[in-house]
Amino acid sequence: MDAISAAGIGKTYPKGVVALIDVSFKVEKGSVFCLLGRNGAGKTTLLRILATQLRPTTGKAEVLGFDVSTRTLPLREKIAVVPQEARPLMMLSAYDHIYYMCRIRGLGDSQAKARTQEIMTELELWEHKDKLTADLSGGLRQRVIIGMALIPKAELIFLDEPSIGLDPLGRRIIWQIIRKMTRVGVTVVLTTHYMDEAENLADKLLIIDKGRTVFFGTVDEAKAATGAEMKMILQKPGTTTLDREVIVPKSEQEIVETVQRGIREGKHVTFKPPTLEEAFIHFAGGSIEEET
Ligand SMILES: Nc1ncnc2c1ncn2[C@@H]1O[C@H](COP(=O)(O)OP(=O)(O)OP(=O)(O)O)[C@@H](O)[C@H]1O
Ligand SMILES: [Mg+2]
Repeated sequence: MDAISAAGIGKTYPKGVVALIDVSFKVEKGSVFCLLGRNGAGKTTLLRILATQLRPTTGKAEVLGFDVSTRTLPLREKIAVVPQEARPLMMLSAYDHIYYMCRIRGLGDSQAKARTQEIMTELELWEHKDKLTADLSGGLRQRVIIGMALIPKAELIFLDEPSIGLDPLGRRIIWQIIRKMTRVGVTVVLTTHYMDEAENLADKLLIIDKGRTVFFGTVDEAKAATGAEMKMILQKPGTTTLDREVIVPKSEQEIVETVQRGIREGKHVTFKPPTLEEAFIHFAGGSIEEET
């Protein structure tokens, strides 16, 4: 079943800035959909349209079966949003943020306390519960914001750069939570500039550049479509990266021969698989070339 179906979405902001042009895609229920693109590509605009915060100028989108332009209120009950650059209130404690948001979402006192503890434990925030958010590090504040979005057990969650500023372990906590949500059928829409995050999480990717779709498909399809290939790197121990020899083998025979040559010449042989970053630069790098 489709959680999202978007056809021909366009957005022109009031002063004439064209942010999106004819964007179409579908997202399966219980999957992770990743929006990638350079700064200003249109990711937040698209996310806000799907989350009923902005109206599209053209096209039609249905989220969980509701038209985003006409059925905003029933849809809002089923979704949660972590906006880009959201900030907690500095003079409230981490605990109070989650607890009061539980109460606002309609939970009674004991239910709210239980849910607050559950979420704060999951996000490894419990030990910080009594600290004012003013006294928390940026990464911990970001976890408080994500915790607030977890309260309603939404059917679909929008995360606009959720792991920005988090340390590698903090990011993995968020990844685990995202995977756990999809296992119970929650759909996740996320934007990120971290290619490893997209590679780890995305069932489908939409890469946009200057408001237009430049790729829609899986991570593997993105790599295959760019012709990004596995590389072999030969380097003598103790030499610099400038002394590396990079080979793109065309056959199994060439792989074997390269390994044998590496051994003969006393070089380390390492394999470098194609990365999503290479595919991203291929798809979204056109505008870099134009600019330079
Ligand atoms: N409220 C607004 N009014 C006018 N123009 C806007 C508004 N919000 C965004 N834009 C413009 O729309 C385009 C897309 O912006 P958007 O915020 O969607 O990009 P993004 O892909 O989320 O970028 P980033 O990676 O920097 O978050 C940009 O040209 C931006 O300047
Ligand atoms: Mg953005």
